[in-house]
Parts: sequence; C-alpha cells; structure tokens
Amino acid sequence: MIYAGILAGGIGSRMGNVPLPKQFLDLDGKPILIHTVEKFLLTNEFDKIFIATPQKWISHTKDTLRKHQINDDRIEVVQGGSDRNETIMNIINEAEQTHPITDKDVIVTHDAVRPFLTHRIIKENIESVLAHGAVDTVIPATDTIITSNDGEQIQSIPVRSEMYQGQTPQSFNVNLLRNSYNALSFEDKEIMTDACKILVVANKKVKLVMGELYNIKITTPYDLKVANSIIKGGMLSD
Ligand code: CTP
Repeated sequence: MIYAGILAGGIGSRMGNVPLPKQFLDLDGKPILIHTVEKFLLTNEFDKIFIATPQKWISHTKDTLRKHQINDDRIEVVQGGSDRNETIMNIINEAEQTHPITDKDVIVTHDAVRPFLTHRIIKENIESVLAHGAVDTVIPATDTIITSNDGEQIQSIPVRSEMYQGQTPQSFNVNLLRNSYNALSFEDKEIMTDACKILVVANKKVKLVMGELYNIKITTPYDLKVANSIIKGGMLSD
C-alpha cells in the first residue's frame, strides 16, 4: 500500500491570535488544508490519504472537505497526536485497522501547511521511498548556516555546499519508521522534532529529493502574506 499522511494535527500557536488553527485559514479563497489535499488527490498512486487533525477539529475538517466538494473515497480524517511524530504514528495505527502493515507499505507524510508542493515532488518521493525506504525533501541552503549552542557566540560555520533546508514530504517504509521510533527512549521521543531524524539516529540512510523554494511552511502571519504573494505573483510551476 502507498499511504499519504497529511499532518494537520497542530494548533498553529506561532500564527498568533487567529480564530482557527492555521491549516484552516483562508489562502486565496480556500483553506490552506484544501490546497494541500487537492495536490494529493491529483496523484493516483495513493491507496489511502489520511488527514490527521486535533480531535476537536475533526468534524470541522470533514465539513470543510464537503464544502469544497472533496469526497474522494481514499480520504480518511483521523485524530492527530500530542506532537508531530505522534500524529504520524496515529495515522499508521489507523491504517493498520483496515490493512495489516506489510514490509512493502510506504507512507508519504506532509505538512498540511505547505500548500505549494508539486506533483513532481510527490512522484519523486514515491519512487525514492519504494527504492530506498526513507526520503527527505530538501533545498540547498542559500544563506550561510551558523551554529551556536548558547545563542551568544558562533560555535561553527559548516560548509554551505553541504547544507540543506528540510521541507516535506518526508516518506518512509512504514515498518522501518515505526520500528525505529519504537526503539527510542521516552526522552528521545520528546526531543525528536523531525521524523527523518528518527532514522538518522538509528543509522539508516535517508535519500534526498529536491524540493522547491516556494514549497514554504506557513508558520507565521508573515508566511501567510508570502504565500498569498506566491499565488498572486504566479510563482508556482509543476
Ligand atoms: N502537526 C501535527 N501534529 C502535531 C503538531 C503539528 O500534525 N501534534 C503538524 C501541523 O499541523 C503542521 C505541521 O505539523 O501542518 C508542521 O508543524 P508546525 O508548523 O510546527 O505546526 P503547529 O504545531 O501547528 O505550529 P506551532 O508550532 O506554531 O504551534
């Protein structure tokens, strides 16, 4: 099975004082989440498309899909988890309710608040995860990256040509991800903010797929303005 997991389980606290979690905010006439879901629906390879939202937003999500005439049988709305990785694990557990997980099953996970991913990025994620078992979507870093462990002084300046910025999708062989996650201690799970890192600390290889500059994550009110400009400025391509 090829699963999609659209991660909409957050509350968007960095978006400030808005009436809805950011994934439901309007972007050029429709909710951000709808833009994202529409991209996934264009990919025939998915057997099932899970959308995970906070429990209290499940019925709102279903209403929103209905309102935008999205009634594809492959979609299932499920409850998110306490953090992003828990949301992914919840999706996998839900998938397992209908089909036992096999070693061939893969999942393409994606931030609901990255509405500009392309068909090309999704396709390359699917091809790469089937071949390699784990995939991250990245773009080369254009700024010099500075590390500092105290926020006061430079610790190091890594070679820029070796630096990338992580985007999503992140795609995994389901058993590989789940087994690596289950092997982590409770404390490690708490600090593991990135799903690919689960595999990196388990010494597994993660293949890179090139993202797009405009495949931004809408995190702050500024990002929402940028997202509107990206659409209105005709900066998207496939
Ligand atoms: N996410 C999720 N489950 C969680 C937390 C986050 O599915 N428990 C999702 C968010 O809905 C979002 C994506 O992960 O689509 C990226 O996370 P982020 O931008 O940090 O979203 P929020 O957690 O909602 O934002 P904030 O940190 O500002 O509260």
